[in-house]
Amino acid sequence: MFDLAIRGGTAVLGDTVARCDIGISDGRIAAIADRIETAAQVIDATGQLVLPGGVDTHCHIEEPFPEGGFQEESWESASRSALAGGTTSVVAHTPQFKGGMLLDQHRAARARAASAMIDYGFHQIIADPSPAAMAEIPTLVADGVGSLKAFMTYDALHLDDAAFLRVLQAAKRHGLMVHVHCENHDAIRLATEALLAAGCTAPKYHATSRPPVVEREATGRAIALAELVGQPIQVFHVSCAEVAEEIARAQARGLPVKGETCPQYVTLTADDMDRPGFEGAKFMCSPAPRMAADHEGIWAMIRRGVLDVVTSDHCGFSFEGVRGKARNGRDASFDAIPNGIPGLAARLPIIFSEGVSKGWIGLPAFAKLVAENPARIAGLYPRKGVIAVGSDADLVLWDASRPVTITNALMQHAIDYTPYEGMQVTGWPAATIRRGELAMRDGEVLARPGSGQWLPRGPAAG
Ligand code: URP
Ligand code: ZN
Ligand code: ZN
Ligand code: ZN
Repeated sequence: MFDLAIRGGTAVLGDTVARCDIGISDGRIAAIADRIETAAQVIDATGQLVLPGGVDTHCHIEEPFPEGGFQEESWESASRSALAGGTTSVVAHTPQFKGGMLLDQHRAARARAASAMIDYGFHQIIADPSPAAMAEIPTLVADGVGSLKAFMTYDALHLDDAAFLRVLQAAKRHGLMVHVHCENHDAIRLATEALLAAGCTAPKYHATSRPPVVEREATGRAIALAELVGQPIQVFHVSCAEVAEEIARAQARGLPVKGETCPQYVTLTADDMDRPGFEGAKFMCSPAPRMAADHEGIWAMIRRGVLDVVTSDHCGFSFEGVRGKARNGRDASFDAIPNGIPGLAARLPIIFSEGVSKGWIGLPAFAKLVAENPARIAGLYPRKGVIAVGSDADLVLWDASRPVTITNALMQHAIDYTPYEGMQVTGWPAATIRRGELAMRDGEVLARPGSGQWLPRGPAAG
């Protein structure tokens, strides 16, 4: 007798897609069979796809600012948004401030996440690899942190090459993955100074200040430094094929380099930042959205396997709020507007619609991009990311042919806008099951705050 049976759906089981029933006991998948008769509760999935719950390994949730205060998206609101969009696990970020330590931030981040309704882990940002801070890494690892995050840009976060090498060396010592935001900080700084001096301050100049070559150079440098140390890396949020080409060359040479991209790089363009007034700030993220033609380049790199993970890079900045895009006023110059856009709930629908419905990828590839591969790199596979006996019963029942117009209300986040407002997608989550519990049905989130679990992570799997 199972606790729950999902009957009649078409499930994506790794490389195969099959009509089957799924039996769940104690929050885990206990059986996958043609027919499961006895269960305390039955959910009918006839006519629906059954996908592994989304795993989003790049989110910014309730992160503190160096000057005090937090991003507007709380763990509770982010969880609601994630479940509404079919995501059941996330890896978010713990900050480090320059001159600061790690463990105090880690403990505080874990305490904030106690209200989560999704399962969660953390990347530890290293903004200042001082000997004292790095000496705390073994304690973080013992608590289940599996990765370090390095930024090559942003004033408060960027590492020069020596500092980045220290991060790579520490990761190697402790068996951690390193995720890297690759953009050349000095190039962006000089371009920004020149633009501001010329009176070019509107949001659209964000893209002018950081063209693809700035991302490509930093990606190539990060790969070279990782090769020097012998440390695997994943390049975060690759925006175009020109950058992915650096990763492809490294992979062809046998280097352990992975690449991630995000829905914004197959949907938004630099022109979105050229809307009247302050509107363009809604689309401002780093790297900047590129040209429409670059979207196909990203899909081609996904098909080649060069980019094998799609995350949201969800960022909890509102448009109007005092901590949001307009925090420095609606006439702020582009360099004074926070970077990052919300996307937790939109990730699966956009990638399904743009990828599967439009024929770039098949169902197994979709499930790998949004669930299995992120789980693997985060050291969460096979507990997460796959429909298999023994895995956590994290499932999404998916209406593959349902047309939906994205609105901010559907995102269910605490943010007052979505950059995808008005976008037409085909395919939408009908229900989300997290560890065997019906956590969302027809857009209604049913999970209880605090029901999310901390995910101690193992080493990344290939
Ligand atoms: O613009 C972005 N992506 N902001 C979030 C932080 C980061 O760079 O990932
Ligand atoms: Zn510097
Ligand atoms: Zn980044
Ligand atoms: Zn990010």
